Amino acid sequence: MATFYLLTDCHYVSKKNWVEGRPITLRERGDQICLKLSPEILDTFIEKIIEDKETDTVLFSGDNVNSGDMTSHYEFRERLEKLRAAGKKVYIISATHDYCSCNGEDECFQKGSVRYTETGTEPVEVMPRSGLYEFYRDYGPAQADSVDSESGSYSIKLKDGVRLIAIVDNGNGRSHCGLFEEGVRWLTAQIKSAKEAGEYVILMTHHPVISPWDVYAHMVDYEMYGGYRKLSELMCEEGVNVIFTGHTHVQNIRKYTGKNGNSFYDVSTVSLVNASGKMRKVNVDTEKGVCDVSSVGLDKINGVDTGGLSAYDYLYGINFTGLLERTFPLIASDYDSFLEHTEGFLPVDKLKKNRFIVKFAAGKLKKMKLSTLAKFGKSKKSLTKEQLSYARNTLVIDVAFEILRHIFTGNAPYTPDTVENIVLSSVASRADRIVSKFKISAIQKLIPPGSSLNIMAQDFLYNNRTGDDDNISIEIG
Ligand SMILES: [Fe+2]
Ligand SMILES: [Fe+2]
Repeated sequence: MATFYLLTDCHYVSKKNWVEGRPITLRERGDQICLKLSPEILDTFIEKIIEDKETDTVLFSGDNVNSGDMTSHYEFRERLEKLRAAGKKVYIISATHDYCSCNGEDECFQKGSVRYTETGTEPVEVMPRSGLYEFYRDYGPAQADSVDSESGSYSIKLKDGVRLIAIVDNGNGRSHCGLFEEGVRWLTAQIKSAKEAGEYVILMTHHPVISPWDVYAHMVDYEMYGGYRKLSELMCEEGVNVIFTGHTHVQNIRKYTGKNGNSFYDVSTVSLVNASGKMRKVNVDTEKGVCDVSSVGLDKINGVDTGGLSAYDYLYGINFTGLLERTFPLIASDYDSFLEHTEGFLPVDKLKKNRFIVKFAAGKLKKMKLSTLAKFGKSKKSLTKEQLSYARNTLVIDVAFEILRHIFTGNAPYTPDTVENIVLSSVASRADRIVSKFKISAIQKLIPPGSSLNIMAQDFLYNNRTGDDDNISIEIG
């Protein structure tokens, strides 16, 4: 039995890199992860891992720090050392947030990193891509049986019969986040030799190999693992059944079936510093040939006074998703305060100019019931008496915020038998008809071939993937 924890997208930010003030607050509001409390959140997870005496291995799958600065890297590495001092084996890979493009050596989107002062920002020392390998050599490559010299990817025995192949897919930055030809050959050879030795193979990389939602790969194909189609087929050909990924910050488990009929799962994990951040706990049972995946979140954050709130409730109001929900009522009651709280992620100047239109629209939206949408989607007749009464008593805005809450957490609650799903699907279908009739190209562009707004909407209404984004038992061969 091999057991490990997997943490991804820790986006660690050193406390030395900011002082309290507008610059860091606005930066954090515009994101969907908690930057200021990233050290406390990571430390609380680490405490949990250390308390678990039965799990001896910890994996980190990239975007370990938020913006490639050296101070955060040193502090992050101290955390890895703490885990090692507690007897854990630690294996990590890096990704694009872990370095900055220096001297034009690559095209990483991060050109530099900053410290947030009270009034602005100032540059800080950064990690070049070429420095990552040596800096983290002791956490994977140094213990590996084989290392791909081009990418720094490595192959390591987790336990007898279980092999981890960690694929460093920081590529050359933005346009290609995968392995190059030489790396693909190395990976193929590693999988083949592990299989020949009778080992179960577990893969880990940063970028998604299966798109979490159809619209994701369609709109931002470059955010996928570079060469994901090829890797998907390779996994099916070689009988590799699971890969762990991050990057999307989305808790999402999806299955792919290849041309030869074999399947694998991409287990994508939510960012550790999302309000609903979780780590995966994985058991690979070599006797049964099963890989069990579960998820562990936080109830409290060590060293943080949440005023009696759960960690989730405390953190949810920090970023734009939660702030939007919390500040929406202010549009009616205190518009200036609404603008103050949403600066950093909403166009405050435009909202100031259009105060009356926004207040009017928000007032309408606030009162709108699901039954109004049922009328638009022409689904009223398909609802039972009870369902219609439910629709008349359910606010659209509450449903919208509930969907928003599950974007990163997975497991949205609106299965096809719910009133919400029936009504929203009918609205999406009507929108499909309108878009097709009037050939609205701006929306047609968003729809993947063979899909529709209704099909796309299902990804966000309920778990139409495996039924549970937090837990799965995968047969491995
Ligand atoms: Fe990330
Ligand atoms: Fe990423």
